[in-house]
Amino acid sequence: MSKQEIWEIVKKMTLEEKAALCSGRDFWHLEGFERLGVPSVMVSDGPHGLRKQDDKADHLGVNDSIKAVCFPAGCATACSFDEELPERLGRTLGRECRAENVSVLLGPAINMKRSPLCGRNFEYYSEDPFLAGKTAAAFVRGVQSWQVGVSVKHFAANNQEFRRMSGSSNMDERTLREIYLAAFETAVKEARPWTLMCSYNRINGVFASENRKLLTDILREEWGFDGYVMSDWGAVNVRTDALRAGLELEMPGPCPENDAELVQAVRSGDLDEAVLDQAAERILDVVFRYCGAQVPQAVFDREADHKIAVELEKECAVLLKNDGLLPLSRGAKLAYLGGFAARPRYQGGGSSHINASRVSSALSCAPDGVIYEEGFPADRDVIDEAAFARAVQAAKEADAAVIFAGLPDSFESEGYDRQHMRLPDCQNELIRRVLAVQKRVVVVLHCGSPVETPWADEASSVLCVYLGGEGVGEATDALLYGDANPCGRLAETWPMKLEDNPSYLNFPGCEEGVNYAEGVFIGYRYYDKKKMPVRWPFGHGESYTGFAYSNVRLSAGTLADGGEVTVLVDVTNTGARAGKEAVQLYVADRTGTPGRPEKELKGYVKLALEPGETKTAQFTVNARSLSWYSEALGDWYAAPGQYELLVAHSSRDVRGSVSLAFSTEKRLPLRVHRNTTIGALLADPRTAPILKAAMSRGKPLFGGEEQESAAAEAITEEMSRQMMVNAPLRAAQLFLGMSRGEIEALITELQRAVDG
Ligand code: BGC
Repeated sequence: MSKQEIWEIVKKMTLEEKAALCSGRDFWHLEGFERLGVPSVMVSDGPHGLRKQDDKADHLGVNDSIKAVCFPAGCATACSFDEELPERLGRTLGRECRAENVSVLLGPAINMKRSPLCGRNFEYYSEDPFLAGKTAAAFVRGVQSWQVGVSVKHFAANNQEFRRMSGSSNMDERTLREIYLAAFETAVKEARPWTLMCSYNRINGVFASENRKLLTDILREEWGFDGYVMSDWGAVNVRTDALRAGLELEMPGPCPENDAELVQAVRSGDLDEAVLDQAAERILDVVFRYCGAQVPQAVFDREADHKIAVELEKECAVLLKNDGLLPLSRGAKLAYLGGFAARPRYQGGGSSHINASRVSSALSCAPDGVIYEEGFPADRDVIDEAAFARAVQAAKEADAAVIFAGLPDSFESEGYDRQHMRLPDCQNELIRRVLAVQKRVVVVLHCGSPVETPWADEASSVLCVYLGGEGVGEATDALLYGDANPCGRLAETWPMKLEDNPSYLNFPGCEEGVNYAEGVFIGYRYYDKKKMPVRWPFGHGESYTGFAYSNVRLSAGTLADGGEVTVLVDVTNTGARAGKEAVQLYVADRTGTPGRPEKELKGYVKLALEPGETKTAQFTVNARSLSWYSEALGDWYAAPGQYELLVAHSSRDVRGSVSLAFSTEKRLPLRVHRNTTIGALLADPRTAPILKAAMSRGKPLFGGEEQESAAAEAITEEMSRQMMVNAPLRAAQLFLGMSRGEIEALITELQRAVDG
């Protein structure tokens, strides 16, 4: 339907009808108007399966929904480091939505993993906005290829569950832009999602649902978003303020009081009716994108989609450690221990909870002859000495033990955060006792977020299947025995212990809010800067084969603002098995700009390689890849100078690098006054030559007198230079013997040079 036709409908709507359209008809439907030919369409959770509910609706995953397919959760999907995978997941979900007549899927959920404790980390992608943004964009392209909308959520800075409906996420503009908005920016600009869902929380004191800066200035005006924004379920505070700020749809409905508030606000002149018209038009536009689409007949084939769930999980699981015990031989005498072998935890709790059509366990797939002892249950933290003894005995008698561990449902869910980062004590204790009698131990972890692994050095192999969806059993089996070669890479750092995490001193904050005091230094940006040991770094993942990097090269050694260069690297499979390598590109600022991370992910590509085969990974780098967000400039900025482009197997395993010289006409704003530092003026190419000339005319603080040697003279000069760098311009009076008048004249000259 054309814009004009939609506006024709809006014109025919009464004030009351327009207000009613801007809130849900019920928990999952938008309002429809038969007389105007506007159907009532359905939305459903999301993100890793279809949670379509009928009459008993809820947003906590309590009541049943239709039988569907549970795919790997976001924590796993992002580990694919492969845009093709989330896109395929999206295409599958888009088809399911079409078949079930769902117009918008409520996902992807793409908030940053600031603390490992956030209860919803299992739904989210990463601690890195580049990875989260690209993964999200691919997912959105996939779903929307079926002309079904998505709702990218939760916009924005919803990084904890503690006081999620009232707390304020407080941070500076640079942190907001570089870390907490960047993934949304990528998703919006690259994939044009039909809708976004605002978060519950406040940002710097202002509710996300009433945040004009976020919902209108940035989202629409800067990024060009052209769909509608819906509220998270119950996130509206004051309805009129929310509409004015740019929140079109309030969910869930019905909301008769808030609808009446809008009508009243228009009648009293408090709200311009044009704002309501605009919101109605945006909602109708998306409704008709869905209803008017010409798409092939869609079928929800649960059997076929279960197979897709298995295939996806094989590409997402991360082999954290392997001293050669894996892959196992199907003929070996093996003991499977731990309740997760029979009852894997494959999804998280809350609104994303899927009524899975069938779930496979590693035990149900295991080869004949495998001995199973539960040892500890999957859902509680209890030590049963008799069960422990049987498990330890089975481990002792076997060639190797595979312990299926993980976080019970109650440890990790939407609605609350984790209290600590440990596995249940019973699990650590059984692993410890088994390791005392059996050196060949594989630990398989089922969790939505990192856990402390005090036994990591002793275990032979550790495979993290995250929350791998309903096909996790088949996928785990294939990975353990080498029918599939692990190729997932960590989308988040696994710290040694919780206290190492950069948010530790400011998580979860207090009643009013939480200060993101670590700024842009989240995840590996922090651990790398601090040169801290971590258990497993961002980007890490082992394989049953090896990869060699060679011949790193650049299409050009210089980059001018507005252009782009290509980085290329050859990667060879050096082992005997086919495998996939996620080649990563990081950028390191070598211009001397303070406050920048050691390196930041700016590209990744997954290569499938047969034994002996070589392929070339290729990345595009532009000014934005080098940039940080300058609040003073109100824009992204990269200083002119040198950057290093690192090709890497993980954030801590750099395999090669090339240097790039960047040039730009963009300059940071600079106001020259008596207290501008000499250092700042020397760092700026516009002012440096003028100041240097003035300084060479002045009488230096030290020197002049006879020095013992040339070396002593050099030291004195260097000390003088360093002191001067930190001094304000007015100190030139003292350091250089300049008069007050000369300094005033110099300020004028410098400012003129800045202003051009
Ligand atoms: C969650 C959303 C979800 C909505 C509907 C809310 O509690 O935060 O992610 O889409 O419920 O179930």
